[in-house]
Amino acid sequence: MPSVFIKTYGCQMNERDSEAVAAQLVLKGYVLAPSEKGADVILLNTCSVRDSAEQKALGKMRMLAADVRKHRPEVVLGFMGCMAQSMGRELIDQLPDVDLVIGTQKFHRTAEHLDAILSGRSEKVVDTEAERGSEGSIREHLLHGSGLSRSVTAFVSIMQGCNQHCTFCIVPFTRGEERSRLIEDIVHECQELASRGVREVTLLGQIVTSYGKREIGTRDGISAFVQLVEAVQAVDGIRRIRFTSPHPKGYGDDLIEAYARFPKLCESAHLPVQSGSDRILKLMHRGYTRERFEAIIEKLRAACPTMGITTDIIVGFPGETEADFEATLSLARAVEFDNAFLFKYSPRKGTPAVDLPGQIPQPVIEERHACLLQTVNQIIARKYQASVGSTVEILVEGPSRKNAARLEGRTRTNRIVVFEGSPRHVGQLMEVRIERAGNFTLYGDPAIVNLNGS
Ligand code: 5AD
Repeated sequence: MPSVFIKTYGCQMNERDSEAVAAQLVLKGYVLAPSEKGADVILLNTCSVRDSAEQKALGKMRMLAADVRKHRPEVVLGFMGCMAQSMGRELIDQLPDVDLVIGTQKFHRTAEHLDAILSGRSEKVVDTEAERGSEGSIREHLLHGSGLSRSVTAFVSIMQGCNQHCTFCIVPFTRGEERSRLIEDIVHECQELASRGVREVTLLGQIVTSYGKREIGTRDGISAFVQLVEAVQAVDGIRRIRFTSPHPKGYGDDLIEAYARFPKLCESAHLPVQSGSDRILKLMHRGYTRERFEAIIEKLRAACPTMGITTDIIVGFPGETEADFEATLSLARAVEFDNAFLFKYSPRKGTPAVDLPGQIPQPVIEERHACLLQTVNQIIARKYQASVGSTVEILVEGPSRKNAARLEGRTRTNRIVVFEGSPRHVGQLMEVRIERAGNFTLYGDPAIVNLNGS
């Protein structure tokens, strides 16, 4: 039985895709290798969002080709996902040791292609064509998560692609046009996950606020996405719902009201802003102004004052002046994000921003990045500190990643809490008192244990 190791780069969608490919391969008789050492097949599931992510995967493959191949020439090496999609055969031209290149609409064919390569029927396979209906083909979940027990949380892919065409973004090229799965199919997947012990689902898509726009449409003023959340809310056994990522442009009042209407929907919103300058937002083709973004935040906080709000910001977009950057800094100070992922602008081939005037020199990008990082981190640290002494509900996920002797869970606002507990707590909702705040981690005491069922 051939063994497979999959290494994943990039976003949660990629993690989800890797898991589905792994599950598919296990069903077909493959075994999962714990590391690349000794694996018969090594697959890299790649990310193209920034050049650094591509370089990491290319470097890794070069290393594998030089190292693994020397001792075990029969090992099958493959690229999957976004870089596979955007580069295709060029990857094999650059790295002739690569046997397999699988695009983002072909994950469900991985086993078929590997079988052909391993049995000698095919020498090399490049499969990056668009395939209708592929958004519904990724359904399999691994039967067993890693760690103490089965997974308590799961990602559920609800759609593929994005039509927004932000001028910096490669996603429309790597993931294609928006295609949504049916509500029934997603609900069915959530029911199956619940029956296996999953208690929290994260609905995933590149732009979930566009979910089902064409296929389902708005009903009684309720967007297709909120209809989906309502349907998942009704799934027995699922205790918490999250989603990522929405786009501010499509963030309607129905979605803000959903937080009050659906008790399972966690008070956590990841809302990428990208810049605090209207001029830059326009050049990015984001479709909203700073004022509109701040109005959404205000409404979210009015609906739920404890809402955890996180964002993505790009620094050094072409044409970004000192004043534009100051506007981003002032937005970060005004909103006080609970977390912010900061990205240094990386030109992506084929995107309109590459040709914009005023490309920013790297040292300036570095300087702005460091400055913004310091600003947001100070705010985050203060907010984490302010939560000390409060009692919060967490869903216990498993052993702590930092210290396996402890357990960790997540608050509804999406903060990690580490505490002393026992394996039987895994999968339970419990209340803990926050005793101490560390770097992006809270330390809790479950002294007042209030088991809320499982
Ligand atoms: N350069 C830098 N950051 C980017 N992102 C997307 N494209 C680029 C790029 N070309 C960031 C955005 C997005 C996050 C997932 O990655 O902030 O929200």
